[in-house]
Amino acid sequence: MSPTDRIAEFVDAVAAAFADGTLLKLKCGGYHGHEPELKSVEARKVAIKAGERLSFVFRYKTRDITKNLTLDEAAAFLVEGLATNWRSARLETAVFDLQFERQGDKLRLKRTEVAGRDAPPADHDRAKNRPLAATNKPWLHALGLTGKDGAVRNDAQDKFRQINKMVEIFAPLIQALHAENPRILDMGAGKGYLDFALYDYLSSLGQSTEVIGVELRDKLVSDGNANAAASGFSGLRFETGSILDYDASGADAVIALHACDTATDDAIYQGIKAGARLIAVAPCCHKQIRRQMEAGSPDQKLDFLLRHGTFMEKQAEMVTDGLRALILEASGYRTKVFEFVSDAHTPKNNLIVAQKGGGGSRQGALDRIAAVKTLFGIEKHYLEGLLDSGPQD
Ligand SMILES: C[S@@+](CC[C@H](N)C(=O)[O-])C[C@H]1O[C@@H](n2cnc3c(N)ncnc32)[C@H](O)[C@@H]1O
Repeated sequence: MSPTDRIAEFVDAVAAAFADGTLLKLKCGGYHGHEPELKSVEARKVAIKAGERLSFVFRYKTRDITKNLTLDEAAAFLVEGLATNWRSARLETAVFDLQFERQGDKLRLKRTEVAGRDAPPADHDRAKNRPLAATNKPWLHALGLTGKDGAVRNDAQDKFRQINKMVEIFAPLIQALHAENPRILDMGAGKGYLDFALYDYLSSLGQSTEVIGVELRDKLVSDGNANAAASGFSGLRFETGSILDYDASGADAVIALHACDTATDDAIYQGIKAGARLIAVAPCCHKQIRRQMEAGSPDQKLDFLLRHGTFMEKQAEMVTDGLRALILEASGYRTKVFEFVSDAHTPKNNLIVAQKGGGGSRQGALDRIAAVKTLFGIEKHYLEGLLDSGPQD
């Protein structure tokens, strides 16, 4: 059998297991391509609105990136990758494991039959494992996610999946605070999807919380409060106000999801000022740093990127959020940035999670901030300006 046949046999086995519902896990390792921080990739079958996909999680040293690929795209990735970048791959199915190894020109495939493994649950079974399994809740209905029969509406399936995903991410972060009744501030709460979901889920685990949604728009605040009262959620409330003016003292966690432009920085600032042990923000639009990069003198070496509007926009987003993470580190937090929902739902899908303590040296972070600003021709990050007039340690 020729080497390409071995790769083809592996890919055929993946395709067959995908099609007959027995695929449990696919994993590639031994990466030796051009991305220095890429460690491994793992994939499972998922059903999303667009259809059945293989959800690939690319594991980097400090972050994970998820990409949902069609079977054809996954096959193309494996055909190329197993011949070049990945030395090993493993397919686990309900009935056998298939191990692929490449050493120099030698390619090996080893199949091992297994007994007693269950097939992965079908999507409708998997739905039962979501944090918000029961859907006949007044708050879900009031937010327009469920119909009169208590079932999730067809046009709200995506939003419901996103909310479940957010609970999966935020609940363990809140529990890790080990606080009896943590005070959680959601800055720019909007309709409060996250607040209702998190409050409901944590209550169901016996964890009491005080959740406060801070929101500029009065109507959203009164609707949120009416909905919380009707649901009997005595620890959840909404308050009208601007993020920057809110008295955040006593907050254990400060969260802001898609608060506009520098409102994200207002939330980070409030979290740092209050000494919150958890700050988590999903930034939205990024205008402030882009304007400075356009007006300033970035290093000429970056011209090949920054002269194209689309790259400038992407760079400005990454630089804005990279600096936010560094500023949090300089303020005594350790940070992680990762995609918290698939980019199929929203391109604004990065989450910056900062946990107090255990970070690196403040001076080291400050030096890196200064270097980044010089490189990109930035005078000052808006968040730095806020912190200049407030506490930093
Ligand atoms: C895009 S929505 C996101 C809502 C919610 N966090 C979510 O993810 O569903 C942003 C919300 O933040 C509110 N907002 C923006 N700037 C604010 C500020 N400075 N203070 C309070 N609320 C703000 C807006 O009124 C809006 O409801």
